[in-house]
Amino acid sequence: AQISQSEPELIGPTKPIVVRVGDDVTLPCHLEPVMDAVMMTLEWSRSDLNNVIVYVWRSGQEYVKENDPSYTGRTSLFTDELKHGNISLKLSKVKLSDKGTYKCFIPKLNKQTLVELVVGINGDKGGVVLQCESKGWYPEPELLWLDAEGKILSAGPTETVRGPDDLYTVSSRVTVEKRHSNNITCRVQQRNINQIRETQIHVPGKHTFLQVKYDNLCTFK
Ligand SMILES: *[C@@H]1O[C@H](CO)[C@@H](O)[C@H](O)[C@H]1NC(C)=O
Ligand SMILES: *[C@@H]1O[C@H](CO)[C@@H](O)[C@H](O)[C@H]1NC(C)=O
Repeated sequence: AQISQSEPELIGPTKPIVVRVGDDVTLPCHLEPVMDAVMMTLEWSRSDLNNVIVYVWRSGQEYVKENDPSYTGRTSLFTDELKHGNISLKLSKVKLSDKGTYKCFIPKLNKQTLVELVVGINGDKGGVVLQCESKGWYPEPELLWLDAEGKILSAGPTETVRGPDDLYTVSSRVTVEKRHSNNITCRVQQRNINQIRETQIHVPGKHTFLQVKYDNLCTFK
């Protein structure tokens, strides 16, 4: 006779997973108690993006048909680990747009767990890279970086994307030396309609690397 055991649970990390753009990352998720998951359907999706499919494992193999194209070729499971109930997802060459909430889900057990992924930007040699993005503009705005004295900083090219709603999203990165990074302003402006949005970014001197990256992500909505 079958003895009723404790119900299996999916276990994810207790804290957000932090990664830098361009690196690989593992999103942890496993079954407890240990169960063989090889023949189960396993689904990873973006719970913050209408459950866009990131990865599906079905009938003992990867099932690629439903995957969102932005994840194609960048996701995999540790197949040797599946028999131990470890269905952690490997995500390669992380992009900024990978930042978000991932759902690890087993339909048959109706169990799921969420994994939060934070994506930071790569800094170099004591420099700090700041990123600024602003959405929902029309006409196209300009984006400026200013130092503490209000002088314009030279930055990389402004990336402009026009959405299906005709509105513009602009984003830009600037690298500042740590000693200059205590008060930097990102300003987005459209002169014709006399609109200005700006924010000050403060980067205190003794940040650890990852905290700096996390704090630097500044988004106007
Ligand atoms: C799952 O597999 C990954 C990759 O081998 C490993 O890093 C992780 O520690 C494993 N998790 C568990 C709970 O064993
Ligand atoms: C930061 O610099 C801006 C000018 O670019 C200034 O208006 C603001 O007061 C400064 N803030 C601090 C805390 O120094």
